[in-house]
Amino acid sequence: MNAKLEQAVNGVVDWFNQRTPGLVPFYKKHMSEYYAPKNFNFWYFFGSLALLVLVNQIVTGIFLTMHYKPSAAEAFASVEYIMRDVEFGWLIRYMHSTGASLFFVVVYLHMFRALIYGSYQKPRELVWVLGMFIFLVLMAEAFMGYVLPWGQMSYWGAQVIINLFSAIPVVGTELTEWIRGDYLVSDATLNRFFALHVIALPLVILLLVVLHLGALHEVGSNNPDGVDIKKVKDKATGKPLDGIPFHPYYTVKDIFGAGFFLIIASFIVFFAPTFGDLFLEFDNFNEANPLVTPEHIKPVWYFTPYYAMLRAVPGKLAGVIVMGAAVMIFFLLPWLDRSKVRSLRYRGWISKTMITLFCISFVVLGWLGLQSGSELQTLVARICTVFYFLFFITMPFWTAIDPTKPVPERVTSHA
Ligand code: HEM
Repeated sequence: MNAKLEQAVNGVVDWFNQRTPGLVPFYKKHMSEYYAPKNFNFWYFFGSLALLVLVNQIVTGIFLTMHYKPSAAEAFASVEYIMRDVEFGWLIRYMHSTGASLFFVVVYLHMFRALIYGSYQKPRELVWVLGMFIFLVLMAEAFMGYVLPWGQMSYWGAQVIINLFSAIPVVGTELTEWIRGDYLVSDATLNRFFALHVIALPLVILLLVVLHLGALHEVGSNNPDGVDIKKVKDKATGKPLDGIPFHPYYTVKDIFGAGFFLIIASFIVFFAPTFGDLFLEFDNFNEANPLVTPEHIKPVWYFTPYYAMLRAVPGKLAGVIVMGAAVMIFFLLPWLDRSKVRSLRYRGWISKTMITLFCISFVVLGWLGLQSGSELQTLVARICTVFYFLFFITMPFWTAIDPTKPVPERVTSHA
């Protein structure tokens, strides 16, 4: 940069600094002087990728809203209009629908990382709990978004899920009517889901993400070794020896991850936007018809592990309780895990076996939720459901007795 240009840039920067006293300290605290462990591996891409997908959903969502009509009479046709007549409407819509599924891919992997590295353990309990709130709101956001195109699956999926609330004793029937705003899923339901999907829930998600990152930066990031990098500091500077400034080191690394991710995302958007009935269900290309029930009503893939549990449990109320508990039990993870070490690297065979079996059960349940539900499938779903809950309920015992390996003082990759 030549001297004059540098002077001009500094002038502008100073002008802002004098008027926004908190901005530079904020930038330092969260970027250039936020010391992150230097041993982050690819599992640490998923937080920034979740942010990237969130931005994609908001931007593409704004453009979709410009052409979408939130009324039962016009919604389906307006989506067809976006796909066929709006300039690049097909691209915007596929970016949004693919983004929704990729959001869950990224968030599930992000949660899995926390599970294997014990990132929810003290002092990061609040980071985890806030993450779980994001997960809950994200589920509601995705469910309501899926109703908007007003296809057969939008309609009947909403019908099935909202009806679950009628299983609640005493208030159930009134509650379902209150949610729908009518005696059946209708124009009123579509209107309120639109309002919640485009403005209310995105605002809540944004707020929660800010709190999530604020909580994380207060205690600092965990890492694949589960070592506390604040323990060993440089005597002269007071900076953690195993830490590197987030900017520029991890901003550059995250850009690399984002590039890789965008290549995969582009491939799906351009060549396989329905992803074989998984990201956009074929039945949803038919307009909602309250008089014709689809042969096989199933939710989108990211809800199917819970849907499989709902179907596996006899009795509607019991099914709803089990399904709800399956999600909510994750909140307790920081207090169920009694292991003295964080990372799976230094845990024993019991933890490794339990986490592997848990993941297998989760994936099998996800697959079963997509199937029609034969007797054998129901039996397998029941076994997996039992194991799913046993994993959490017995966690205080097996984490306490599992033999652990000694955790190093410093991260394993230090020079
Ligand atoms: C919109 C969704 C989310 C966004 C944008 C987001 C963003 C982030 C970012 C940027 C980080 C720091 C980078 C990283 O560690 O990967 C992070 C860390 C973390 N997140 Fe999330 N997150 C989201 C959802 C969740 C969910 C659903 C959970 C768990 C229920 C969760 C749990 C955690 C934990 C425990 C950490 C600390 C990890 C560590 O230090 O090892 N997050 N998140």
